[in-house]
Amino acid sequence: MEPYRDPSKPVEERVSDLLRRMTLEEKIGQLCQYSGFTEEIEEAVKKGLVGSLLNVTGVENVNRVQELAVKGSRLGIPLLMGLDVIHGYKTIFPIPLAMASSWEPEVVRRAAEVAAREAAAEGIRWTFAPMVDIARDPRWGRIAEGFGEDPYLSSVMAWAAVKGFQGESFSPHPERVAACAKHYVAYGAAEGGRDYNTVDISERTLREVYMPPFKAAVAAGVATVMSAFNDLNGVPASGNEYTLKTVLKGEWGFRGFVVSDWNAIGELIVHGIAADGAEAAKLAISAGVDMDMVSDLYRRHLPDLVRSGVVPVEVIDEAVRRVLTVKFQLGLFENPYADPERAREIVKCREHLDIALEIARKCIVLLKNEGALPLRKDLKRVAVIGPLADDRDAPLGCWRALGDPNDAVTVLEGVKKKVSPATEVLYAKGCDVSSEDRSGFAEAVEVAERSDAVVLVVGEPAYMSGEAASRAYLDLPGVQEELVKAVWDAVKDAGIPVVEVVMSGRPLTIAWSAEHAPAILAAWHLGVRAGDALADVLFGDYNPGGKLPVTWPRTVGQVPIYYNHKRTGRPPAPDRFTSKYIDEDWRPLFPFGHGLSYTRFEYSNLRLEPERLEPGETLAVSLTVTNAGSREGDEVVQLYVRDLVASVTRPVKELKGFKRLTLKPGESRRVVFEVPSELLAFYDRAMRLTVEAGEYEVMVGSSSQDIRLRGGFRVTRTERFIASGRVSFTRALVL
Ligand code: BGC
Repeated sequence: MEPYRDPSKPVEERVSDLLRRMTLEEKIGQLCQYSGFTEEIEEAVKKGLVGSLLNVTGVENVNRVQELAVKGSRLGIPLLMGLDVIHGYKTIFPIPLAMASSWEPEVVRRAAEVAAREAAAEGIRWTFAPMVDIARDPRWGRIAEGFGEDPYLSSVMAWAAVKGFQGESFSPHPERVAACAKHYVAYGAAEGGRDYNTVDISERTLREVYMPPFKAAVAAGVATVMSAFNDLNGVPASGNEYTLKTVLKGEWGFRGFVVSDWNAIGELIVHGIAADGAEAAKLAISAGVDMDMVSDLYRRHLPDLVRSGVVPVEVIDEAVRRVLTVKFQLGLFENPYADPERAREIVKCREHLDIALEIARKCIVLLKNEGALPLRKDLKRVAVIGPLADDRDAPLGCWRALGDPNDAVTVLEGVKKKVSPATEVLYAKGCDVSSEDRSGFAEAVEVAERSDAVVLVVGEPAYMSGEAASRAYLDLPGVQEELVKAVWDAVKDAGIPVVEVVMSGRPLTIAWSAEHAPAILAAWHLGVRAGDALADVLFGDYNPGGKLPVTWPRTVGQVPIYYNHKRTGRPPAPDRFTSKYIDEDWRPLFPFGHGLSYTRFEYSNLRLEPERLEPGETLAVSLTVTNAGSREGDEVVQLYVRDLVASVTRPVKELKGFKRLTLKPGESRRVVFEVPSELLAFYDRAMRLTVEAGEYEVMVGSSSQDIRLRGGFRVTRTERFIASGRVSFTRALVL
């Protein structure tokens, strides 16, 4: 047996052996990825000129193509089959922004694990997830795909997602897929929130805000990273030697491979940094982009560029090594095929659908409740109204892989299953999501008036967020707000409780509702079991405990708005000449970390130890949380820190730890956060990663605005770090 085929040999040896046998064309072939399957691609696969395919799905298709590579090509190198498995494969989970609202890394890990199990069974061994782009701008539709605005929360979730997809350690396993941290880097900082737009941010913001989740993914062992579309401070991310080579592969020691985003290498020409395809290919490969997603420029130009000495063959070898390593690590040479029997058994199985329900419940955020919720199950009549009330498509959200809307449970169905047999459930659509037609209002009003409670389901359809779905307005699309007003006006005097369920892929500016509606739930796009999860929350079978991973603005004019902002020299105050607006409040509608419960939590007895922290030490922040209400419920305890005086301006607060816990009525638990001192590090004036000596404030609370306990500590000495891939997290214990 050739050494590269021998699974008992170390991966490095197998890679070297295989590399020695490859022609230049075959090597470059490993760096080429194409979408779908055509006759042309078939010919290329047989010649060993393709390394990966995306968007080829279905057990039979995958196996047929794979067989061409394994049996039909000279060296039999299997293809890496990729797909955007973002929040589920066929069992669709809540969108990532919703999963971040659970503030429970285990939720993200488990969803990724199930998605990987289903995808791998059908032969997909690589997902283009997690997306870990920080998003401070809800106009950007791709905010739906990530974990929100905070670098710390996103880093924890990035780590969890990678472990879920790849397993604790990345090694051959039939239920695992290679993950891909995308879109590296700062894609979420697009000017004006317009997708694909220019990004121009400081090196400090880049390193402190946009890079940390990628660094966490790398530390978790992510197999691949995707280079983004955007221009970053003048250099497009897919031709950026600094971010890819210096930082990612250098400082952080990333050993996997980099794939470009879709045709991002071709777009180097459009950006205006390459005159033609050959120059674009040269720029990308030299910058460290190992695999070309669909532009075909590597295949067309790299052979000549190498032969003419413009690109050293060592550069190609290095990229091929990285790609082959991932293929060996996945065990593809031993197990290249999908297993139809296993796929039939586990894809969309009962267990997975139940996990989807459990997860969906944890992602719901109770934004407001003046006592309307929970509803009683024995009401005479309940009205379920709104364009998304009986919609099967919206719950699946953007990027639903092979999700099928027919599997989704609507809110109307969920409510019908939940109420007592004697309860009549009335339904009216009211209007379409985004038309101007108000002719259904009358029916909606009539139905509401006849009911004892009204559930209004409004918001955005699935594809109003995700890629190429930037919005300039952030309100409820179409005439939905008018529908909400009409229904509310009709029933408010009768004291009929109205609950607004907002489905969306982003924060929406629902200031009118926030003022008038007695109760509001942020439901995001909750996946296949959306209706069941929402019914559980509406009728009190599940007490909501999600918290916002992103700030909800009052109006689009406040954007970008985020909790970890700088203080400015003139913080907002009653005086006119301070940092605010003359025509709108400067504060958000709902702050980062906000989310209510059907019970009440009290915080007490904050203790900090030690109060003088030496470099390398761990700060223990402990406190007591008590469920002071009469229902069991979940609280997310949030720990924020502020560096009071530093060499550069620091945010007013930064999340440094969090813990979701369940408490029975009257129950008290002690929560201990162990914060490693290096978590206080930031980039000083000379851009050195530093923990500065001085005073720090600690804030613990139920949201970034609802701070319940405050304390302080001192760092005794300044500590500097050399650049590395080291990542640390706060450990949270519940005693
Ligand atoms: C998106 C990526 C995605 C890729 C492949 C691109 O348009 O930006 O997020 O992974 O397509 O589908």
